[in-house]
Amino acid sequence: MNPLDLGKIQAAAAAIDYLEDGMIVGLGTGSTTNHFIAMLGDLVAKGFKIGAIPTSQASARLAESLGIALIDINQAERIDVTVDGADEVDQFHNLLKGGGGALLREKIVAHATDHMVVIADRSKRVTDLGAFPLPVEVTSFGFTITAKKIFDVLRETGCSDADVKLREAGAPGRPFVTDNGNFILDCSCGHIPDAATTAQALNAIPGVVENGIFLSFPHTRRTIIFGDEDGVEVMGGVVGV
Ligand code: A5P
Repeated sequence: MNPLDLGKIQAAAAAIDYLEDGMIVGLGTGSTTNHFIAMLGDLVAKGFKIGAIPTSQASARLAESLGIALIDINQAERIDVTVDGADEVDQFHNLLKGGGGALLREKIVAHATDHMVVIADRSKRVTDLGAFPLPVEVTSFGFTITAKKIFDVLRETGCSDADVKLREAGAPGRPFVTDNGNFILDCSCGHIPDAATTAQALNAIPGVVENGIFLSFPHTRRTIIFGDEDGVEVMGGVVGV
């Protein structure tokens, strides 16, 4: 097996230790989280009881197919633990997410969570965010104007190599549509020198629904689990910028 895939599986398996019977659990989106959902399905089949809140239709379908009970997020006041992947994790444990297009629901769920457990193979570990193109969810209405404003913000906030592209799906020119009916602009940044400033400036643009920079939330504990073929490294408690 590919060492990166093995790392994803190791990290997913380690995240199971953070669950307790009776918890409400947020389910992230992506290939790493899919391993976690499969392991959770095995536990549920053996009698473990949790209620799950998925961050995408894809994760909901997978969880349902494995017999995991889903909860409507509007019926929950808070979420005990959310397990989710990441495209990048920086030295302060800020995250870059949204490669799978689920960043809006992922951020809503993460923000409502007491303890976020991030699972990733070691290739996701970076000093500063930005080598992976930053996904930004935007309304379809006026997206070309929004894209120009985003480009300006990236340049103004010091991103070294700004470029903004509409994410496509299926066929050239056909936009990828999120579970929320919006588009995704993938923003090459090169290097994001100040993640907090860039995130704040992006969300101030009309037409931007949410961006893929996940700063730390003061009320949410964040644990990072990096996996590789030899095992996992668990990190937590660092306050982000
Ligand atoms: C989904 O929108 C993303 O935020 C994912 O969490 C991220 O892309 C990680 O995906 P993989 O686990 O597939 O690398």
